[in-house]
Amino acid sequence: MRSDIISRRDSDTGNSNSMWGGRFAGGPAAVMREINASIAIDKRLWREDIAASRAHAAMLAKQGILSSDDAAAIDAGLQTVGQEIAAGKLVEDPALEDIHMHVEHRLSQLIGPVAGRLHTARSRNDQVATDFKLWVRGAIDEALGGIDALEEALLVRAEEHAATVMPGFTHLQSGQPVTLGHHLLAYREMLVRDRSRFADARRRMNESPLGSAALAGTGFPLDRESTAAALGFDRATANSLDAVSDRDFAVDYLHAAALTAVHLSRLAEEIILWASQPFGFVKLPDGWSTGSSIMPNKRNPDAAELVRGHSARIIGDLIAMLVLLKGLPLAYAKDLQDDKPPVFDAADLLSLSLAAMAGMIADLEFVPARMRAAAAAGHATATDLADWLVREADVPFREAHHVAGRAVAVAEAAGIPLDGLSLEQLQAVDPRITDGALACLSVESSVASRTSAGGTAPDRVREAIAAARSSK
Ligand code: ARG
Repeated sequence: MRSDIISRRDSDTGNSNSMWGGRFAGGPAAVMREINASIAIDKRLWREDIAASRAHAAMLAKQGILSSDDAAAIDAGLQTVGQEIAAGKLVEDPALEDIHMHVEHRLSQLIGPVAGRLHTARSRNDQVATDFKLWVRGAIDEALGGIDALEEALLVRAEEHAATVMPGFTHLQSGQPVTLGHHLLAYREMLVRDRSRFADARRRMNESPLGSAALAGTGFPLDRESTAAALGFDRATANSLDAVSDRDFAVDYLHAAALTAVHLSRLAEEIILWASQPFGFVKLPDGWSTGSSIMPNKRNPDAAELVRGHSARIIGDLIAMLVLLKGLPLAYAKDLQDDKPPVFDAADLLSLSLAAMAGMIADLEFVPARMRAAAAAGHATATDLADWLVREADVPFREAHHVAGRAVAVAEAAGIPLDGLSLEQLQAVDPRITDGALACLSVESSVASRTSAGGTAPDRVREAIAAARSSK
């Protein structure tokens, strides 16, 4: 199996490298070979490598740099190599270093020495920058799809729970009642920003490095705009030194990924808290729970915990990329080969995290009775009493705040919720309170009254959902 793909292996013969070994008498040391090889990682670029090579060969032919017969042979050969790799027939050989040399080597086995013409007016430096950009662009599109799916799950659940009352927290202390729909839509807003960050990164990165060659450009009469267009880029890059050493697009991608992961982690943390017994706001369905091998009672939120955990790794991937770049003089240096593991890692983790979160949100069983009871505890409508005094009795807010605070103290001393106080008890606190105030002390009337733009009132939540849907 191996030998029908890779016939000659430098490691077996001790020869110098067939791609660049002209000036070398001997082959690399074993550890040199090992530290140099990236095929185990960058084989994921094979589709992009073949697409970019086909675009390059077609352009060389169009420009009269390559004969049309040679270009046709190269194109057919590259398609065959692609089919072989798709069928799992790539044989990794560390002596061939990376995916670029594997593809070219196999091409030469298939079509002979004419394969050597493919690398005219090109270097692995512009080649890898092009392939990697294409890959990252695909990862951005995948992230955008994952964000859309999670957004849809949030909108569906928010609609269902537009009027479900839950405690709204500050300092993780009950602050004021909110609606579950409003709470879920807060995460939707984060996703809207995430989507715009990915879209922004995509727009900025979409320039083709191909034709920048090793670092200085080339003397061949290339048409860089035609390869750019063939690969879906908006234009060719403007500076060859920058083009081969720029990895800002990877940083932009990782930044967008890291912040998305942070948002997912916050949502995961809510699910973990809400599913815990003291909260009991949600029941994790079987499909999203794991058991314990020792405690038969357990139903653990492992998926949410892993989403929270994965965010740490994605943040680490961003930091790794930034630190990788910070000391590099122009132009290409082999350090840049280490740009791929953090991006691949982050992309894998992010798509799993987005999918897991969309699934959990869709399937969670909310427990509205527990949420309502928790919302009513802690005298969470004290602000509503103060607001009533301002509105109906013309009391300055600072004074109204004080009056409501004394009412809370009375309720607390009596061991009852604020909305359990009688009118007499309230009037003993302040005679300006009339029975109109009683109506604003329930959690339902509290949330219904929060009608300011962007507020938690069920009507506002429904409007926000309608706006979200019509913006799609
Ligand atoms: N495997 C290399 C990378 O990923 C490809 C570019 C190598 N260029 C070179 N001049 N050695 O960065």
